Amino acid sequence: MTEQVTRATFDEVMVPNYAPSAIIPVRGEGSHVWDKEGKEYIDFAGGIAVTALGHSHPTLVNVMREQADQLWHLSNVMTNEPALRLAKKLTEKTFADRVFFCNSGGEANEAAFKLARRYAFDHYGPEKNEIIAFNKSFHGRTLFTVSVGGQPKYKEGFEPTPAGISHCDYNNIDQLKALISDKTCAVVMEPIQGEGGIIPADKEFAKQVRELCDQYNALLVFDEVQSGVGRTGTFYAYEQLDVKPDVLTTAKALGNGFPVGAMLATADVAKSLAIGTHGSTYGGNPMACAIAEAVVDIIDTPDVLSGVNKRHDLFVAGLTAINKKYHVFKDIRGMGLLIGAEVVDSLKGQAKAILNAATKEGLFILVAGADVVRFAPSLIIPEADIAEGFVRLERAVAQVAAEHNLTK
Ligand SMILES: Cc1ncc(COP(=O)(O)O)c(C=O)c1O
Repeated sequence: MTEQVTRATFDEVMVPNYAPSAIIPVRGEGSHVWDKEGKEYIDFAGGIAVTALGHSHPTLVNVMREQADQLWHLSNVMTNEPALRLAKKLTEKTFADRVFFCNSGGEANEAAFKLARRYAFDHYGPEKNEIIAFNKSFHGRTLFTVSVGGQPKYKEGFEPTPAGISHCDYNNIDQLKALISDKTCAVVMEPIQGEGGIIPADKEFAKQVRELCDQYNALLVFDEVQSGVGRTGTFYAYEQLDVKPDVLTTAKALGNGFPVGAMLATADVAKSLAIGTHGSTYGGNPMACAIAEAVVDIIDTPDVLSGVNKRHDLFVAGLTAINKKYHVFKDIRGMGLLIGAEVVDSLKGQAKAILNAATKEGLFILVAGADVVRFAPSLIIPEADIAEGFVRLERAVAQVAAEHNLTK
């Protein structure tokens, strides 16, 4: 018999590093989710920019079933066809020539940071080991990735952290110029900061970062874990910046919820991860790669990508209309379907209150920090679901505005 579990079970048996909401979703279809009690929700969160094709996409379900009947796992002592096909597609679609598969964004970044150090070690010697990243950036939760990430709270109490890492302000080229040197092996950036508050890179800034990296023989690493696989309206966001990185990391939407990550690199750079230098037991397993291949096939089409931009406009219009009535946001920004709405000063710290009110109204949304409400829905969310989601969002915003005496 299946054991009965409730939200209270979480506090009894789980490590307390998360504070999940009171509801327990049990089923999803497209951009709709149902909880244990049968209540329906519209999903504007996409499992934090992961379920880019919604829940239970029929093609993905079929691919998964077929692959489950064929082969799940081999380990890296052998290669497999889905991994080879996926790697071919990723290299054909990007600047990259080589792919390393893993299981998450953090793991892809670990690989990228290790590769950056190893490449510099191979070509310039051990002194060239410094990594520069940006304040407010987020790159994962492993010890190396919280150290490269620009949010000190995530490494507090976990010291000593890896050395040779420094940070400066995003979109501030003068600060980067002051930090970069011949000892820099890599500059790491998100083309649009996600967890840091949905902050897109200025095009001119990105171009100058690339130039500085070239000048100092440092690799440019783009973390596209959140922005990649169609999320911003191009397959990867770097395509909109007119800048090519040397290394790119991708995960989240790549498996639409099935764990898979990848690090992409040029052939010359990739050479430094020679036999035995790095690895992952599950990385590149046929299940994950078969699903990711189908995800890539569906998303990287003109129809889906142009649909992202259309939906972007609908989201911005919906948020602007709510804001006209309730004056809760001081900025609405983002790229494609990675959108942030920053709350006004009188609601400082209240993004989570809007999220909680939205959940009660039957809508999943996200926050990015304490002051930004974030939206990362399915890239193919139907217009009718967007419209209904905004009806629910308006009810949630109205409540929070009223609680804080913001007049209509
Ligand atoms: C830009 C970025 N990099 C890395 C990560 C870490 O990915 P994962 O949680 O899959 O390790 C995230 C997760 O939010 C992210 O947004």
